[in-house]
Amino acid sequence: MMGVESQLETWPAELIKRATLVEVEGVSLTNDVAENWDALWAFKARPDDLLISTYPKAGTTWIQEIVDMIQHGGDSQKCARAPIYSRIPFIDLFPPPPIPKGLDEAEAMPSPRTIKTHLPVQLVPPSFWVQNCKMIYVARNAKDNAVSYFHFHRMNQGMPEPGTWDQFLENFLTGQVAWGSWLDHVCGWWEAKDRHPILYLFYEDMKEDLSREIQKVAQFLGIQLPDPVLKQIVQHTAFESMKTNPMANYSTLPAFIMDQDVSPFMRKGIVGDWKQHFTVAQSERLDDIFAQKLQSNGLTFRSQLGMQC
Ligand code: A3P
Repeated sequence: MMGVESQLETWPAELIKRATLVEVEGVSLTNDVAENWDALWAFKARPDDLLISTYPKAGTTWIQEIVDMIQHGGDSQKCARAPIYSRIPFIDLFPPPPIPKGLDEAEAMPSPRTIKTHLPVQLVPPSFWVQNCKMIYVARNAKDNAVSYFHFHRMNQGMPEPGTWDQFLENFLTGQVAWGSWLDHVCGWWEAKDRHPILYLFYEDMKEDLSREIQKVAQFLGIQLPDPVLKQIVQHTAFESMKTNPMANYSTLPAFIMDQDVSPFMRKGIVGDWKQHFTVAQSERLDDIFAQKLQSNGLTFRSQLGMQC
C-alpha cells in the first residue's frame, strides 16, 4: 500500500466522484458500498479478528491508533510502518483503483487482523458473530459528531455533497447520510454489547481521561501495559501528536481525495465545538428527536465535559 501514494499522484482527479446514497436494508449507504453489498455480506471473519466499529467521525482513527499502539507494545516506529488506513483495513470502503478495496486488503492480511467498519450492527457481516470476534465500538455525542461529519463531507471529495450546514443537519437528523441514522447506530451497538464481546467506549470519556480509556482497551484485549508503555501510548495518541503524524492524519492522500485546505482531517479534536455551529433552535430540535430513544435505551451522552444531556 505504501506504493499506492506515488501512483495516486499520476491518477486523473476526475475519477473521484462524490457518492450518492442508496438504501440497503433501510439504511443509507454510499452507492459503492451498495454495489458491493453481496461481497461485503459474505466477508469471512476469523475467530481472532478484532473489529473496530464507529459511526463516521466518532473517533475511529483515534481508537485505531490506540489499538495499534497497544498491539505493538507502545512502539511508535512500528506504528509508522504504513498509513492507518493500510494498517487496519476498512472493509466497507470500495474506492476506484488503484486504491485497494478494504475487503481485498483484509483478505490478504495475516492473522491476527484488526478491521474497521462503520456499519450499523444489523449490517455487520454474519461471520463476525459466528466467529464470536471481539469488537470495540466508539460513540460520540450527536452534536459534535454531526459537525465533524459536515466538515468531513466538505473536504472528502468522495462523500456525497453536504449542501449547507442547515441542509446537512436535516439529513443527519433523519438518517439521510452515509451509514444511516446516528441514533439507530449508537443504540443498536449499545444493545448488542450485552450479547457479544463488545467494548463500548465514548469519545468524551477518551478526552476526559485518555490513560484510563487506553487501560480499558488493553484489559479488553488481554494485554498488560507497563506504566512507561501506557505513558508512551497516551503521548502518541494525544490530538496534537496525531495531527502532526502523517501515518495517522491522512496527509498521505492527495487533495483531490481529501482536501485538507478545505478542512483538516484532524480538525479540532474537542468536545463542544458544536456550539460554534448549532443555533439554539437546532440544538433543541436534535435533543427532541433523539432524547426519548436514548433515554429508553439507558444511553447517556455528554455534549460538553462536566455535564450530561
Ligand atoms: P473533529 O472533526 O471534531 O475535529 P474519525 O476518525 O472517526 O473520522 O473521526 C475524526 C474526528 O476525531 C475528528 O473530529 C478528529 O479531529 C477527531 N480525532 C482524531 N484523533 C483524535 C485525537 N487523538 N484526540 C481527539 N480527537 C481526535
